Amino acid sequence: MEQLYDQFQRKIDYLRLSITDRCNLRCIYCMPEEGLKFFPKDKIMSQDEIIQLVQNFAKMGITKVRLTGGEPLLRRDLPEIIQRIRQISEINDISITTNGTALKHQAKKLKEAGLDRLNISLDTFNPAVYKKMTRGGNIKHVLQGIAAAEREGFKIIKVNTVVVRGENDQEVMDFINYTKDHPINVRFIEYMPIGQEISDWKKEYVPLTSIFDKCREAGLTYEPLSLPGNGPADNYQIKGYRGSFGLIHPISERFCESCDRLRITSDGYVKACLYWNEELNIRPVINDFAAFKEVVQKALNNKPLNHEMAMKNVHQIINPAPTWRHMSQIGG
Ligand code: GTP
Ligand code: 5AD
Ligand code: SF4
Repeated sequence: MEQLYDQFQRKIDYLRLSITDRCNLRCIYCMPEEGLKFFPKDKIMSQDEIIQLVQNFAKMGITKVRLTGGEPLLRRDLPEIIQRIRQISEINDISITTNGTALKHQAKKLKEAGLDRLNISLDTFNPAVYKKMTRGGNIKHVLQGIAAAEREGFKIIKVNTVVVRGENDQEVMDFINYTKDHPINVRFIEYMPIGQEISDWKKEYVPLTSIFDKCREAGLTYEPLSLPGNGPADNYQIKGYRGSFGLIHPISERFCESCDRLRITSDGYVKACLYWNEELNIRPVINDFAAFKEVVQKALNNKPLNHEMAMKNVHQIINPAPTWRHMSQIGG
């Protein structure tokens, strides 16, 4: 079987595929307050294009596929897309990253379609803070969504919590306490300057190193934990707790050396790195495998070793966010 490598010999076997740029929320770290103009429908890849694309990648050594957005559940054909990817024998892990607000009604269909894993965004347990951070969201819908996913028996459910100074940074221990009775992996994520003014971002960025101090102050003992899934999180578990927590710290301690992924935007561009402007249009060559391979390899030959965000001292960052896309247009 073929295998993909980038210019630094990192093996690439994980595809993050954005299937829509639309979202029903406008989280403060992800979208501007006024929202974004969504791509016109014909700019977004069709279901057939998506399946052909995944089939091509499967022949090139991709074994894991994550469907992202915007909000992937806004695409009505999501269960069908999952069902069709499930038929591709090389793909052994299908996951989604969702805001969870529509999960209550869709968890069952997704499970039946063959979805393996879900990552659900939830930054706070406080309804007012949730409303503020998502600019209008109702926390009840997400909590019902998480409950529905648990009921459907998804074995791995992760909660993504972006820590933002002055908004939810006081709630870290509430999330850790949540893992006592919930078999869920909560991942604290460092706020990344993607689509924001660097000066605004610096004021709100929180390094995650302080979480261990908070655990110790609370008298909690944690142990490293190895979890299935290929993400960039370092995971830990408090002794005796059902769930676990993870740290995703692209800024304070970057994990690029072990990067195994490639992104495709919903409008069909290969993005070899989250924080990198170069993108190649793959849509015109989806049905021409030789040309498709060429475009992918070209992107990987230019995949940078690491990103400019990861300065130890955030004040050293002088480069304004070098990506025109906001996070919702990349898929996280
Ligand atoms: P699994 O561990 O396989 O479940 O996936 P994941 O953690 O990579 O996926 P998810 O979409 O839940 O991503 C969680 C957070 O990690 C998001 O904020 C992503 O933007 C961030 N993230 C994921 N991959 C990368 C990466 O390659 N570079 C950086 N800097 N951040 C990433
Ligand atoms: N920094 C870090 N994480 C972000 N996400 C969105 N924007 C940012 C940002 N600026 C996360 C969301 C979601 C995933 C898709 O990306 O919390 O879990
Ligand atoms: Fe939507 Fe997810 Fe971005 Fe929030 S983080 S605005 S839920 S795409």
